[in-house]
Amino acid sequence: MTARTCLAIVLAAGEGTRMRSARPKVLHAVAGQSLLAHVLGALAQSGVTATAVVIGPGEDAVVAEVKRASPGAECFVQNERRGTAHAVLAARAAIERGADDILIVYGDTPLVQGASLARLRQAIAEDAAVAVLGFRASDSTGYGRLIVADDQLIAIREEADASASERKTALCNGGTMALAGKTALAILERIKNHNRKGEFYLTDTVEVARGMELSAAAVEVEEDEMRGINTKKQLAEAEAVAQQRLRQAALDAGVTLVAPDTVYLCADTKFGRDVVVEPFVVFGEKVTVEDGAVIHSFSHVVGAHIGKGASVGPFARLRPGTRLGEGARIGNFVEVKEAVTEAGAKANHLTYLGDASVGANANVGAGTITCNYDGAAKHRTEIGRGAFIGSNSALVAPVKIGEGAYIGSGSVITRDVPADALALARSQQVVKEGRAARLRGLKSLAKSRNE
Ligand code: UD1
Ligand code: CA
Repeated sequence: MTARTCLAIVLAAGEGTRMRSARPKVLHAVAGQSLLAHVLGALAQSGVTATAVVIGPGEDAVVAEVKRASPGAECFVQNERRGTAHAVLAARAAIERGADDILIVYGDTPLVQGASLARLRQAIAEDAAVAVLGFRASDSTGYGRLIVADDQLIAIREEADASASERKTALCNGGTMALAGKTALAILERIKNHNRKGEFYLTDTVEVARGMELSAAAVEVEEDEMRGINTKKQLAEAEAVAQQRLRQAALDAGVTLVAPDTVYLCADTKFGRDVVVEPFVVFGEKVTVEDGAVIHSFSHVVGAHIGKGASVGPFARLRPGTRLGEGARIGNFVEVKEAVTEAGAKANHLTYLGDASVGANANVGAGTITCNYDGAAKHRTEIGRGAFIGSNSALVAPVKIGEGAYIGSGSVITRDVPADALALARSQQVVKEGRAARLRGLKSLAKSRNE
């Protein structure tokens, strides 16, 4: 089978009106990735050799997402929305180049698995002209029905056009199908728009193929895979399914999720061995967690690399560009962005590290802020290995703190500090003996104290 070529056509020209959103439907996210990226990912897993995406006119954002998620894919514009079969023919030029198998997948069906697409291709390799994914729906409202007789798929009937007994048919049409490349165009060109909506239905491929003495097959999959997203409610339901899958995969891979249902993962989150994730942690895109690291509760982690045995949180925020070295510690109420901390470095409390590097074993005290932004541009702070930054210091970037340097607490550091130097940059403490007691005698002060 691997020797067979395969063109995938993704239908993504829908307007998505029911999402009530300015964003194109296929760009909404599930598990941190667009619906379209999920579909393109499943296609990549099923070994397609070329991909065509059919989009609506003027959808530049969709084109950009296609290029990002699947650089080799080609976009075709369907100028008028005249039905799913009409949409497939928008990619006619790609079909004419020829492929053994043609997979047709809806862009709003993000949970479809590569393995199921491979099963469809297998049916084509075994001589079906059309193969369709079907499922048993808990609520079949709105789905087309697969009409099966003697193990043969004989038709797909849209709900509106189906008879009462056909509606009772157990298998629903998932909308994902495969066509044999050699007969695909002949079938698609014979489809008519003689139905209630006056659209060219892809579902007619089955009856047309059979009219041409070709065979059709149904391949059954789990309902969850075929969830089509038309509304925000369905988007939330798909998110729940995707999270269940990702949590299960993490547990299977040996990650300790103390309370799995409270952890939100991204489709690309990567874990090493013996990682512990405490309750209520959210992972965004592009996170890697190495062996033995612990993510404590209520942490929010995006675009971060967490090194071996590192500790994060509770209540930490790691933003894109964070790289924590082996055994590094980022504690409560610490925010890190575009910053590298080397092995054993610590920022345990109430700190902002932005556009910074922190050398091995350096200690950043509570309340330290890297002042990286001057209102116009961002600047870097470099903290050398083994340096000690006293609590409540402001490091005004660009600035370098040398190896082993010591910054007294409460300092506002505006110039570089050499290695092993002590720097104090704070106003002098003024002490006036007895002054507080005298002031207390004043009425106004006594009043304000009692309020
Ligand atoms: C379709 C199927 C139905 C199936 C259901 C599964 C048809 C006629 N019906 O119904 O049997 O049970 O999916 O979810 O295929 N699109 C275009 N251009 C068009 C029309 C649609 O690109 O002119 C795209 C949409 O963006 C969407 C997909 O095709 O991604 C399906 O279209 P939609 O209108 O949602 O079909 P359903 O009514 O859900
Ligand atoms: Ca749909």
